Amino acid sequence: MLVLGIESSCDETGVALYDTHLGLLAHTLHTQVEMHAEYGGVVPELASRDHIRRVLPLTEKTLQLANRTLQDIDAIAYTQGPGLSGALLVGTSFAESLAFSLSVPTISVHHLEGHLLAPLLEENPPNFPFVALLVSGGHSQLMRVDSIGQYTLLGDTLDDAAGEAFDKTAKLLNLGYPGGPALSTLALNGIARFTLPRPLLKSDDLNFSFSGLKTSVLTLVNQHEPLDEKTKADIAYEFQEAVTDVLTKKCMLALRQTGLNKLIVSGGVGANTRLRAKLNAAAQRQSCHVSYPRLEFCTDNGAMIAFAGAMRLKSAPLGHQEQSHSFSVRPRWNLSELKTP
Ligand code: KG4
Ligand code: ZN
Repeated sequence: MLVLGIESSCDETGVALYDTHLGLLAHTLHTQVEMHAEYGGVVPELASRDHIRRVLPLTEKTLQLANRTLQDIDAIAYTQGPGLSGALLVGTSFAESLAFSLSVPTISVHHLEGHLLAPLLEENPPNFPFVALLVSGGHSQLMRVDSIGQYTLLGDTLDDAAGEAFDKTAKLLNLGYPGGPALSTLALNGIARFTLPRPLLKSDDLNFSFSGLKTSVLTLVNQHEPLDEKTKADIAYEFQEAVTDVLTKKCMLALRQTGLNKLIVSGGVGANTRLRAKLNAAAQRQSCHVSYPRLEFCTDNGAMIAFAGAMRLKSAPLGHQEQSHSFSVRPRWNLSELKTP
């Protein structure tokens, strides 16, 4: 079966075609990062308008790249939530209208389920069950994944998400938006000169807290104003060390507590090379295995949505019932509300 996937929950329009026998056939993406950078963060109304401009041309391009036509599509998967309501409405209404015109079923996908399953798009994917670390701009969660739709929350952030902490710290260092990638590049030039706290490192639960870290960075910045490039790099270095130390320690604790030996990492911060290096080394010491999505599938994309939809379709074929194609979006949607297909 051929599944078209549509992602439009935030500032990336992603479209992909996934074939349940042949795998991922094609995917395209438009990122709005440059458009929002001017404002220092995502402007929801601008995001929605840009999704409207992009979704149709990207769908045409994806079909062309895969050498398929609209008539080849068997089902359409789209992100129904969580995310920005206006942005979600664009992908949702587009997907439902197209499905109505083609008389094919739709599958509404939870954005985080897309991220969670993204590492399974790679070669030699891990089997269930495994522990998942989901670290994005909006989430820092550890989950036990037993099968599609069976997700048990093991730990969560008490305040800022890891990506949010990267972005806020980058802003304090004047690195622009979104600052995660820029901060980690700058950290390459830094050395261990400062000491920042490792929040909740020693607690025996699996929760995170990153907002205090950002406040400690602010104190450092104020003490060293005006910041020279060397000081900025040293702060970036120590901040990245602090966040990756905590994430690594909690992942290893989650593996020990669950008795599992497989970890998958997803979400934008999963692209961080220092985090990957530390997780790989720690997992090896604990005889565990870590899987990641390719770098471009760490951040938002259509491939993970097409794939999550295809996995749900495989687990529970939709049958021939008529679909109404009426729709709604779910800007707030807890992953634990998902059910097995
Ligand atoms: O998963 P994602 O694209 O969007 C959400 O669903 O939130 O993640 C974006 C987040 C941003 O906070 C960005 O700064 C962060 O991921 N990020 C990184 C890196 N690449 C992206 N953070 C640290 N290091 C990176 N290399
Ligand atoms: Zn995301």
